[in-house]
Amino acid sequence: MRNHTPSSITDTVLDQMAGTPSPRLKMLMEVGIRHLHAFAREANLTPQEWLQFIEFLTRVGKTCTPTRQEFILLSDVLGLSTMVNALHDATAVEDATRTSLLGPFFREDSPEFELGEQISTREAVDPILLWGRVSSAAGKAVANAKVMIWQTSGSGTYDLQEGDGSAIDYRGTFRTDAEGRYFLRTVRPLGYYIPMDGPVGDLVRAQNRLGKRPAHIHFLISAPGFRELVTALYFPDEYVESDVVFGSSPDLIAREKAADPEAPIKGLPSVRFDFTLARAGTADTAGGRVGADPKAVDAAARAAAT
Ligand code: BEZ
Ligand code: FE
Repeated sequence: MRNHTPSSITDTVLDQMAGTPSPRLKMLMEVGIRHLHAFAREANLTPQEWLQFIEFLTRVGKTCTPTRQEFILLSDVLGLSTMVNALHDATAVEDATRTSLLGPFFREDSPEFELGEQISTREAVDPILLWGRVSSAAGKAVANAKVMIWQTSGSGTYDLQEGDGSAIDYRGTFRTDAEGRYFLRTVRPLGYYIPMDGPVGDLVRAQNRLGKRPAHIHFLISAPGFRELVTALYFPDEYVESDVVFGSSPDLIAREKAADPEAPIKGLPSVRFDFTLARAGTADTAGGRVGADPKAVDAAARAAAT
């Protein structure tokens, strides 16, 4: 037993945790404790500030529901999701399309469509065509790849944010054809505010940040033998440089053409983007999604609590 001081408490805690049987848990906790303690020391954290933070995290937890994941949102606005994505990208065995955020609006129950179909169930006010190829790093077409897409409506809301969140819209699942091609109709998405009515929104406002994301379309592309690709295409609007969750990047800009003679469906403005998948490596057995369907997170948390 010792008299604890700001400089001695860290080693005392690490000594007590030294018997953690799982080497990975041991390492994660050691690094986490060292950085947390250093944060408290460097910031000279006061009891009142620490309690305020605990209240904040409590609100974050209480804001989570099967259709809303405030912790994923927090990770996103802190740049932690993009950090973990970038670390995961660095473990790919081949160069592939850059990843981007999964975000809090992904859902597993995405309806299946035939190539060329319109994913919006409403009247398509500002329709566009999305098309391109999915290929391997060696340039070979990946046939029958599963391409999941989700986005906002033309007024900037996801289906999960409308009504009770149970209606499914502006999302769909497609399969690439024998040449690895995908093509579909959708509506032009709109840049939007991340959910600002909860604790994460309060934080973003307190930091004088805008809280907006550029217009974008999410993609989750998978095929046997390949690393799953979670990414998004960004329309170059006024928010693309200041994305509040750091998901946009120059490699993922959607370049729109008013009339593209090569497009598989004519008469619509179109965006072509070709995706490259890396072969699956040893780092891919545990999955690489930074986030999940809020319903799945909720179910996992409930299962762990019983
Ligand atoms: C999204 O792209 O859907 C998103 C990502 C992070 C935070 C909020 C929304
Ligand atoms: Fe999004």
